[in-house]
Amino acid sequence: MKHNLASTFLFLFLHCIGILAQGPSPSPTPPPAGATAPAPGPPGPTNVTKILEKAGQCSTFIRLLQTTQEMSQITSLLNNSNSITIFVPPDNAFLSMKAGTLNSFNDQQKSELIKFHVLPQYFSLSQFQTASNPVQTQAGGTSNREFPINITTNGTSAVNITTGIVNASISNTIYIDSQLAIYQVDKVLLPLQFFVPPAPTPAPSPPKPKKNDDSSDSDSVSSGVIKLPSRTSLLLGCVWFCLCELIC
Ligand SMILES: *[C@@H]1O[C@H](CO)[C@@H](O)[C@H](O)[C@H]1NC(C)=O
Ligand SMILES: *[C@@H]1O[C@H](CO)[C@@H](O)[C@H](O)[C@H]1NC(C)=O
Ligand SMILES: *[C@@H]1O[C@H](CO)[C@@H](O)[C@H](O)[C@H]1NC(C)=O
Ligand SMILES: *[C@@H]1O[C@H](CO)[C@@H](O)[C@H](O)[C@H]1NC(C)=O
Ligand SMILES: *[C@@H]1O[C@H](CO)[C@@H](O)[C@H](O)[C@H]1NC(C)=O
Ligand SMILES: *[C@@H]1O[C@H](CO)[C@@H](O)[C@H](O)[C@H]1NC(C)=O
Repeated sequence: MKHNLASTFLFLFLHCIGILAQGPSPSPTPPPAGATAPAPGPPGPTNVTKILEKAGQCSTFIRLLQTTQEMSQITSLLNNSNSITIFVPPDNAFLSMKAGTLNSFNDQQKSELIKFHVLPQYFSLSQFQTASNPVQTQAGGTSNREFPINITTNGTSAVNITTGIVNASISNTIYIDSQLAIYQVDKVLLPLQFFVPPAPTPAPSPPKPKKNDDSSDSDSVSSGVIKLPSRTSLLLGCVWFCLCELIC
């Protein structure tokens, strides 16, 4: 009997030493770096062409989307799960422009024209009520986005858009989900900058000193480190475990 108890103690002691030597029990192993797990989620970006074809009366806009290659820009914006809003003028809005307006634009202007109808931000109808002007569009250079629009609302769901030379209204919601909103507008939105020479650019200001983000960087690194239980708490845990096993 005595011998039995002693050997049990010895066994448990060695058992505990063993646990301590192993260190803390391994946390769930992360997936190996090379293997990319199949990403869950929607199967590919939403097909905007399909939505517009279904809506009808958008063939001019669809054709411009394709000839300017802006469709692929929109697709890749969507694929990166960015939020976007698209204003689509119907065919009759193109027809009611001053004759020859569209043909007077070169390819680059046609691209800018389409980009001017795309906002790099998601707006539901109610979110337009709190939009702060001017609102960026994709036009005017991808980094600068210098051709903005202004949104005006009157507290109802009515939304007006002004570009400085065109006043338009949202006439219909064509499509809306959580990252993409497509609205019909009653006029083709023409950028003011197409018709007004840009104001003389001010002398380039010295580059802003780069904000020092080192602290937040190191924060995010250290927060990634899993906090390990201390050796003392492990030892206490072991003693507790040994006592339990003895009692049982
Ligand atoms: C989107 O839909 C259009 C017509 O409905 C089709 O021609 C096109 O191939 C589709 N694009 C993709 C990427 O599925
Ligand atoms: C969407 O993005 C993923 C990676 O982020 C890429 O593999 C895929 O080819 C993209 N699809 C399209 C249609 O751009
Ligand atoms: C929007 O424009 C229409 C005319 O196009 C005008 O009657 C209406 O008052 C405007 N609404 C807002 C909210 O600016
Ligand atoms: C807001 O605008 C819409 C459409 O332009 C109009 O029908 C409505 O009466 C306006 N409401 C107010 C409170 O001005
Ligand atoms: C747009 O709004 C901004 C800010 O309110 C204003 O400075 C600008 O003149 C407006 N532009 C147009 C075209 O209405
Ligand atoms: C757009 O509306 C503003 C007032 O809301 C007006 O001053 C301006 O003349 C209008 N522009 C056009 C092109 O109708």
